[in-house]
Amino acid sequence: MVRRLGILTSGGDSPGMNAAIRAAERSASSRGIEVIGYQDGYNGLVFGQSTDLGDRSVGNIIQRGGTVLGTSRCPEFREPEGRAKAAETLRNDKVDGLIIIGGDGSFKGALALSDEHGIDVVGIPGTIDNDVWGTEETLGFDTAVNSAMRAIDQVRDTSESTGMMFFVEVMGRHSGAIAIQTAVATGAVGVLVPESHSDIDRLVNRIEAARARGKRSHIIVVAEGDEAGGAFGVADRVNKMMPYPHRVVVLGHIQRGGAPTARDRVIASQSGALAIQALVDGRSGIMIGIQGALPVEVPLKEVVEHGPPATDYGLLQLARDIAG
Ligand code: ADP
Ligand code: F6P
Repeated sequence: MVRRLGILTSGGDSPGMNAAIRAAERSASSRGIEVIGYQDGYNGLVFGQSTDLGDRSVGNIIQRGGTVLGTSRCPEFREPEGRAKAAETLRNDKVDGLIIIGGDGSFKGALALSDEHGIDVVGIPGTIDNDVWGTEETLGFDTAVNSAMRAIDQVRDTSESTGMMFFVEVMGRHSGAIAIQTAVATGAVGVLVPESHSDIDRLVNRIEAARARGKRSHIIVVAEGDEAGGAFGVADRVNKMMPYPHRVVVLGHIQRGGAPTARDRVIASQSGALAIQALVDGRSGIMIGIQGALPVEVPLKEVVEHGPPATDYGLLQLARDIAG
């Protein structure tokens, strides 16, 4: 019998985390289950910082970016001693299961907690990077892509007016997912990502060919983890071969905040509700992924063992094929 559940957000925050917390709390309370929110990721478990969630405490948060529970990176939780303290907190609080909203690092920690201390865990993928295996979308990805797209649309106006080239850096230390989607959505002339070799010669040729056809505005989207050294690195190398006026724009953490898109609110709500259902039905050690636009349960062990999902090279190629 499940009477009380815990929930926390961990790793980088992402828009949609609040919508998932709300959905989980509401789904639990409609079944008479109490929910404890642990603060600042695994810190809340290790150091015993929590707050009781109720229906009203999750009111008016579905539209807010970030996470009302706070998040952190918790080095103590990486060690067995830290996880033992976390398990003790959960036992003292009489928690019957734990929902972890975060990325693959958070899921590694969740699995260790489950293996070592028999805690029932369910993960919900929340990171703007969309780099979790077993799900087509992570909470916050759609919002981040839309934020980057709106920013680049604005940069495009000044590029078209002045003829200057713009190198725009988007987030993604290890993942080019935001860069690829944003490049397609903004009609960028180039896109550079960590997962593929940065062919600067080919980029320069493409820009020169576009200029020769009379194109005035040139947007090159660069993922922060690109091997050439982010947007500044790429701009330096291009400028040596093609010294035209240019500017560098780093979008940074703007992409991590802001109101979640409808898509992120919907998948967050579906995921939060299914996470509760799974725990109530006695299923754990799983992640709620989105596959074929539907919420599904994926074994956490597979998620963690598999590592990052495949890069969408088809979409990357499309971005390059249809660049003006
Ligand atoms: P994300 O969840 O977004 O991938 P991190 O990789 O920073 O973010 O992980 C978030 C937290 O999860 C870490 O600060 C740590 O507390 C915990 N964690 C990450 N990897 C492990 C691991 N291998 N074992 C135990 N805990 C981990
Ligand atoms: O949330 C994911 C992410 O934004 C990555 O794209 C980025 O490399 C990293 O987090 C930066 O996080 P922080 O500034 O918290 O170290």
